[in-house]
Amino acid sequence: MKLIINTLTPEEFLADYWQKKPLVIKQGFADFEDLLSGDELAGFATDELVESRLIYKRNEENVDITNETKVVNGTKKANGTKNMNKVWQADFGPFDSYEHLGENDWTLVIQALNNWLPECEALIQCFDFIPRWRFDDVMVSYARPGGSVGPHVDRYDTFICQGSGTRHWRVGDNGVHKEVVAHDALLHVETFDPIIDVVLEAGDVLYIPPGYPHEGVALEESMSFSVGYRTGSAKDMHNAFSDYLLENDLASEQIEDPGRQICRDSGKIDRTDFARIKQQLFDALSDDMIRKVVGGHLTHSKCLLDLPEDEYDYDVNYFLEVFNQVEMVRVGGLRCLYFEDGAEKGRFFVNGDEIHFPQSIAPVIPLLCDNQVLTFDMLAPWMEDAFLVSQLTAWVKKGYWYFDDE
Ligand code: SIN
Ligand code: CO
Repeated sequence: MKLIINTLTPEEFLADYWQKKPLVIKQGFADFEDLLSGDELAGFATDELVESRLIYKRNEENVDITNETKVVNGTKKANGTKNMNKVWQADFGPFDSYEHLGENDWTLVIQALNNWLPECEALIQCFDFIPRWRFDDVMVSYARPGGSVGPHVDRYDTFICQGSGTRHWRVGDNGVHKEVVAHDALLHVETFDPIIDVVLEAGDVLYIPPGYPHEGVALEESMSFSVGYRTGSAKDMHNAFSDYLLENDLASEQIEDPGRQICRDSGKIDRTDFARIKQQLFDALSDDMIRKVVGGHLTHSKCLLDLPEDEYDYDVNYFLEVFNQVEMVRVGGLRCLYFEDGAEKGRFFVNGDEIHFPQSIAPVIPLLCDNQVLTFDMLAPWMEDAFLVSQLTAWVKKGYWYFDDE
């Protein structure tokens, strides 16, 4: 699978479009095929561990309880008149039947499909000119004709990759868009004028940066796969910092001010004191601490991973025997990251945990984090190392990496 961004190189795409403006990529993928069948999708939606949602409009009877007589469509209607309204509805899975929804006008969405379906990895790799710490998940949206999740704005960058069927997409300009709570679980925006109005066919890709309102309506039964990218807000990071400081009882040093000058305005916090307080806050944010907290935060998976309830039965010898013959695959959605200034010191992050490798096996870190698949040959120079072998065995027991053809 290979992505061709119209006539642009990935560098040109990043310079001109990424986080700047939306782009239609016609036939970004030649011969694109759905990553899964309708039956497989329905199967995932029955699983309570998988996050699924159904979005549709329900007919709601609305009884006019005012005392006035109204003129509706040229006819006089007394109070107590029944009107039928279409009301947005969002249900959370698992689902095992769709019959009540009829043939048209509904969408089934599955979040973090990449945590459950290994075929998603090849699609994600097409976008690896953006680093994985920015990656969020692959979402699949299956829509019946007329199905839509409604007009909305995302806080994420998304590449919507059209699979089977066609969808009509409208994208508005960024700016202020009035939000409408269409349903407790659906935050919509008011109608907008499109700057992009396009019908996507299999293999087309629509890139939408955060802040641009958009709406896709299926013209026929259709599937699309959204590769989403997230950023952490400073608020999220500060929360992670507070948790870390509390859990580890850090940064509890009191302010020290032995050089204090005489105070003349007792109610004032003067500039010197403000600088002291600020410095105290900054002292808690050393580069090491930032890496620790942010690394843990960024490798924490938002959705469940496909891991065994009880650890698999491996010991070091059995692990070595199998790894000699079969490659190891990282389970979908497992986040493994290292900082440029960190890996050479043996530090990196796997699924929210900071891992310390001895210096002698530090070169393994980029191999583990940059590759989805590991072969024995790739790690051969370090496979005599007892620490490495026991760590790999521990991860295979947990299901973080698995052997492909067992
Ligand atoms: C959809 O594919 O139905 C929604 C995707 C999106 O708007 O982000
Ligand atoms: Co969206």
